[in-house]
Amino acid sequence: MSKKRILSGVQPTGNLHIGNYLGAIRNWVEMQPQYDNFFCVVDLHAITVPHNPEVLAKDTYTIASLYLACGIDLQYSTIFVQSHVSSHSELAWLLNCTTPLNWLERMIQFKEKAIKQGENVSVGLLDYPILMAADILLYDADQVPVGEDQKQHLELTRDIAIRFNDKFASEENPVFKIPEPLIKKEGARVMSLSDGTKKMSKSDPSELSRISLLDSPEMIKKKIKKCKTDPVMGLSFDPQRPECNNLLTLYSIFSNQTKEKVALECADMGWGKFKPLLTEATIEGLTPIQEKYEEIMREKGYLDTVLKEGKEKAEMVANATLKRVKSALGFLV
Ligand code: AMP
Ligand code: TRP
Repeated sequence: MSKKRILSGVQPTGNLHIGNYLGAIRNWVEMQPQYDNFFCVVDLHAITVPHNPEVLAKDTYTIASLYLACGIDLQYSTIFVQSHVSSHSELAWLLNCTTPLNWLERMIQFKEKAIKQGENVSVGLLDYPILMAADILLYDADQVPVGEDQKQHLELTRDIAIRFNDKFASEENPVFKIPEPLIKKEGARVMSLSDGTKKMSKSDPSELSRISLLDSPEMIKKKIKKCKTDPVMGLSFDPQRPECNNLLTLYSIFSNQTKEKVALECADMGWGKFKPLLTEATIEGLTPIQEKYEEIMREKGYLDTVLKEGKEKAEMVANATLKRVKSALGFLV
């Protein structure tokens, strides 16, 4: 039996933070041997908000390299750049024309991002989930591993696929496979270091709110030292204590210990004792990734080869799906 397929992606907007790693990439690495995997750097998504053309290519290299540094293995997985495979844009257009506008207007992430953009909201920002649906549906993905925040986009993708199949295909011969979201509970939502009720995010203006995968040990130490805590004595996984809950979860993940064990270890601890432990575990967790990253970035030619081969493999799958879609819609193919 052939393996089930996974597709996922991250936007090349700056560096990755530990939320991206724990909520997404770490799970991809763990699962990859059991699946046929496609991981893309979604650069077309990165221009849905104003972007700087001078850093887009550099950021794209950074993310591709971090995929490898975090442990994505080319033996199981294909790594490619979204804009290298033109079927993504083309399918997005076709889906634009078969999806009701009000499905997009409901998207929470759009509303949140649109508020931040003020007058400058692009059509692309509204259309972002359609492009994401195209990314997923082109590869007949069975599972899409993402963080909790992407759940609504996955539901939309399923709705788009179901509606398309209903309208343009027969039950025995559907055009699209209906994908399933794969959201891990642990690490699914890493919270900001400055506010335990807010998601850790690349777009937060404060660098102190997040730990980046490439932060130096000194920087990690500084950020954890300054992070928000609460005045309660003794630490616990109490949902009423968002900062405490978040920091203990991070500690449990980076120190490879169960929550139960951490709860016991930290029950009588104060922040003064806990913070150095968390700092050390975080640095230990990130050092191997940083070393591998440096090694890959020193060899630019290597990354180009990986991305070229990835493009070729991705194109074979994506182009075949696109042809199926166009044919179902009645195009002369
Ligand atoms: P983005 O940074 O929005 O491109 O997200 C890339 C991946 O990381 C997606 O699968 C997100 O769901 C996941 N992700 C982003 N921020 C977080 C967070 N704070 N906690 C957990 N997962 C996250
Ligand atoms: N929207 C996703 C995010 O911000 C990124 C993304 C784009 C994606 N296309 C995708 C994730 C396809 C999974 C599958 O995190």
